[in-house]
Amino acid sequence: MTTITVIRGDGIGPEIMDATLHVLDAMQLGLAYEFEDAGMVALEKHGALLPEATLDSIRRNKVALKSPLTTPVGGGFSSINVELRRRFDLYANVRPARTFPNTRARFPGKVDLITVRENTEGAYIGEGQEVSADGETAVLTQKVTRKGSERIARYAFELARTTGRRKVTVVHKANILKSTSGLFLKTAREVAAQYPDIECNEMIVDNACMQLVMRPEQFDIIVTTNLFGDIISDLCAGLVGGLGLAPGANIGTEAAIFEAVHGSAPDIAGKGIANPCALLLGAAQMLDHLGKPDQAQRLRGAIIATLEAKDSLTPDLGGEGNTLAFAKAIASRL
Ligand code: NAI
Ligand code: MG
Repeated sequence: MTTITVIRGDGIGPEIMDATLHVLDAMQLGLAYEFEDAGMVALEKHGALLPEATLDSIRRNKVALKSPLTTPVGGGFSSINVELRRRFDLYANVRPARTFPNTRARFPGKVDLITVRENTEGAYIGEGQEVSADGETAVLTQKVTRKGSERIARYAFELARTTGRRKVTVVHKANILKSTSGLFLKTAREVAAQYPDIECNEMIVDNACMQLVMRPEQFDIIVTTNLFGDIISDLCAGLVGGLGLAPGANIGTEAAIFEAVHGSAPDIAGKGIANPCALLLGAAQMLDHLGKPDQAQRLRGAIIATLEAKDSLTPDLGGEGNTLAFAKAIASRL
């Protein structure tokens, strides 16, 4: 029996988690769930956004499946997701994007890439954020380290080897951000030299965005810094038919948290129409991580078969189904 920590999250979180667990239960994997709270729900129930019990559970189980958590824009508390990544040093954010059948994908059949995003440093973590007393000037510290760059580059090249992929594209802005992006690029080049079997190329981030939209088939694995990876992975989600199909893994040496790339979708929360596929595909990444690649493929296969049959698809995929009906349709094809 393997125990995982389950965080049901905010907004559409509980709806897509129930759907995902319905499918995982149908697979009879011998998984036990430890339900813990984080985010708005945790604040209301326990008076803390990230209760100690939740942290203890992840520390103990080393694997968590997490629904999206709401973060207020501008003011308010800072992101629980960022805090979880920091607490457990989840340095690699691995976001696969591939086109599935019967979706609003821009390039049917052509996209199959993985964004490997550095997850613990750079502008994204919001270090040193300050606004002057007169409200006229805002600053932020952007720190990149050799250690952080080295381990994420190594992760990307190792991932290429273990998944049989051929090419790693290092995405940067070292022409302008000479210090931070410069150190990242220099370090990635040193790592690339140790992997002569994997092709490596470099691309400046703005061009990379244009290339992704024009000719996505040239990409295999993309490795980049935190903020660029955040933006590029959503762009890739758009290429393959939307956020409802984009999963992500946050991997560290002591723990790993699997999730959907999308947020809590307050605009559709409570309506029962959220697409559960992103979290389900996150669960498939979790099964790979747990050493169950056959089960991961079984799950992906059932999702693809359900999309092919257009059975109970949710509105974002052009269907008229709902979250649980979609999950049941997937479970019936396992
Ligand atoms: P969002 O991803 O929640 O929603 C963007 C758009 O995509 C909305 O129109 C939404 O309805 C749609 N969408 C998202 N997931 C969907 C699904 N499964 N099925 C169908 N449609 C879906 O992004 P937004 O609105 O920028 O953020 C809302 C909240 O989520 C914010 O508080 C934000 O901080 C948080 N967030 C949390 C994340 C996490 O916990 N990992 C990641 C991104 C955002
Ligand atoms: Mg994002």
